[in-house]
Amino acid sequence: MPVLVAPSILSADFSHLKAATDMINESEADWFHVDVMDGVFVPNISFGFPVMKSLQKHAKKILDVHLMIVEPDRYIESFHKSGAANLTVHYEACTHLHRTIHAIKHEGMKAGVAINPHTSVSLLENIICDVDIVLVMSVNPGFGGQKFIQHTFDKVLRLKQLIIDSSSKAKIEIDGGVDLDNALPLIRAGADILVAGNTVFSSPNPKEAIKFLKDPL
Ligand code: DX5
Ligand code: ZN
Repeated sequence: MPVLVAPSILSADFSHLKAATDMINESEADWFHVDVMDGVFVPNISFGFPVMKSLQKHAKKILDVHLMIVEPDRYIESFHKSGAANLTVHYEACTHLHRTIHAIKHEGMKAGVAINPHTSVSLLENIICDVDIVLVMSVNPGFGGQKFIQHTFDKVLRLKQLIIDSSSKAKIEIDGGVDLDNALPLIRAGADILVAGNTVFSSPNPKEAIKFLKDPL
């Protein structure tokens, strides 16, 4: 399966969100990556439902929502109503992750679990068969434009092995510092989905950057 590319609208110019949305619609991108931050789980606040609802109106592709918030269970239904097709919660933010993952699926969305750079892949052993997506954070969550953490390659290889060994159907999503140089090695290591904020939105030609990430050979 070809790699999926999910531009992160966190890096877009919010005063021209419609233009960013149109650009993604017209590009070869597969998903919109939507980063929701609460200022508690991460040291930054991004946006919430009003922005999601505006996106929902104009986005013609899947909204892949990455929750960097505490107590995500409280908002599962609201995110679905705001257009989320994929909902990813953090391993570190969920005391009852199994319950949360199944609540997301029950609501009709694909369910993802995200792991911070310090969280070991082996901790996913007992949830890997329940999730649709594992989002591997390749920076510490909270901000766009950070430097890619090299140790991620190791984690992707281990995660791929865990998925194979457990016959899981989970897809591997990489988020943070993905650029034109590390895209191909990440795909070769086992990445199925690449999130890219800065690489797309700081490019003089965002659509070309997306095209390259889709096929960096
Ligand atoms: C960081 C977010 C990322 C971020 C990626 O906490 O989860 O999705 O927007 O941005 P870049 O690609 O610029 O690192
Ligand atoms: Zn993200």
